[in-house]
Amino acid sequence: MTRTARFTLDPAFTIGDVSPRLFGSFVEHLGRCVYDGIHEPGHPAADEAGLRTDVLELIRELGVTAIRYPGGNFVSGYRWEDGVGPVDERPRRLDLAWRSTETNRFGLSEYIAFLKKVGPQAEPMMAVNLGTRGVREAIELQEYANHPAGTELSDRRIAHGDKDPFGIGLWCLGNEMDGPWQTGHKTAEEYGRLAAETARAMRQIDPSVELVACGSSSRSMPTFAAWEATVLAETYDLVDYVSLHAYYEELDGDRDSFLASAVDMESFIESVVATCDHIGARLKSSRRINLSFDEWNVWYMSRSQKATEDNPLDWPEAPRLLEDNYTVTDAVVLGTLLIALLRHADRVTVACLAQLVNVIAPIMTEPGGPAWKQTTFFPFAQAAQHGRGRVLDVRVDSPTYRTAKYGETDLLHATAVRDPETGAVTVFAVNRSQDEELPLEVALHGFDLAKIAEHRVLADSDPDARNTLTEPDRVTPHQAQDTTLDGAVLRATLEPMSWNMIRLT
Ligand code: AHR
Repeated sequence: MTRTARFTLDPAFTIGDVSPRLFGSFVEHLGRCVYDGIHEPGHPAADEAGLRTDVLELIRELGVTAIRYPGGNFVSGYRWEDGVGPVDERPRRLDLAWRSTETNRFGLSEYIAFLKKVGPQAEPMMAVNLGTRGVREAIELQEYANHPAGTELSDRRIAHGDKDPFGIGLWCLGNEMDGPWQTGHKTAEEYGRLAAETARAMRQIDPSVELVACGSSSRSMPTFAAWEATVLAETYDLVDYVSLHAYYEELDGDRDSFLASAVDMESFIESVVATCDHIGARLKSSRRINLSFDEWNVWYMSRSQKATEDNPLDWPEAPRLLEDNYTVTDAVVLGTLLIALLRHADRVTVACLAQLVNVIAPIMTEPGGPAWKQTTFFPFAQAAQHGRGRVLDVRVDSPTYRTAKYGETDLLHATAVRDPETGAVTVFAVNRSQDEELPLEVALHGFDLAKIAEHRVLADSDPDARNTLTEPDRVTPHQAQDTTLDGAVLRATLEPMSWNMIRLT
């Protein structure tokens, strides 16, 4: 058996408070995320607005907060005016990003109504198009959405049936503008100026808006870090966040490296923090830019690109795109990515799991049929429910394993969160070993904890096990046996390749 992994928890040593927005998600007009995902009029479970109530129920259970919309690459060709007003008068348009036809049956008003139905924890996070459009269209959208009444645009919203302003407080200034694939792709200098001018104008309407400037669309972009530095030099006093995007997949059968993906995510976060603070220092600013990790997930991008090449699409409506079916291994990796975000909760204060339904998503649907949970649903839902409060500083002493991509890597990846109201502590831990159990010992200093409320595990003897339409409950979390709390020491055995949530009350 492997050597024991250990860490110590003390309520005096903390990282920071978890922002509720850390458990955000993303709805893009892409494939079947909107159409046949959240919106399917005529489905037996659809409400009067065409929203699938079975999907709404799963979204509530998942516990997502901020929901980014309408893209993604889609936003860079989007005209927001197409998605407001009477539905049967809305235009059909080519969506260049995903080579699809956009019917605009779902738009801004439907998005806000959808958020209301998800519940009070759901918050809008709206992206403006800075690819093919600019300052004017962004402020017109803001005025339409947020101005109470008495102007042409706000009165147009009221005439469209939305008397109350939408109160959108969190805005993304474009999407992945560093990417050559982006419609209207720009250099860092071009984007930095445009983002600054847009931010200035949006703040003239409402100084309290929170704005996200586009960072790099991945850490592997050749312009990474220089892009952030240039954009922030233009926008530092005008924006609140810089964005990060990262997707991970198992490549060439190298599962050991895949299981260590969070090593990359953590160092990506730390590099962006360093870049933000470097620009802040150069500007002698006391302002702090936080991080919006507004696209993250496991995504088998290499497979989906191949599918498009083999089968060029002919501008279909809501095609099946990017419908990855996640294994239990993918769910464990997603768990480590959640741990990475929590471990940096002092600076990552917005994060969006990309995406919410059907498209690289924790929730799947079949038109006219059921909705079900992918394996990745479980770690996210557990973290969103119990990863609330203050993150404790966890420094693990763990046995290691060798990975081709990241060298010697800890087998244990862990974090812990304390609820300041109840004093309850939740430990999230992943054992990265594919075949060996990992004994864990946690020393608890200065807590008043009496019992283990639960130790839930996601693991399976088949690492490729997954949930499907025909077998929707193949993979679900189970209760661990033999986890003990002996005075001030928590002891557990983590199953091979497992995600664990241990709640102490
Ligand atoms: O989430 C899928 C796509 O990934 C988004 O549209 C884009 O922003 C990113 O490249």
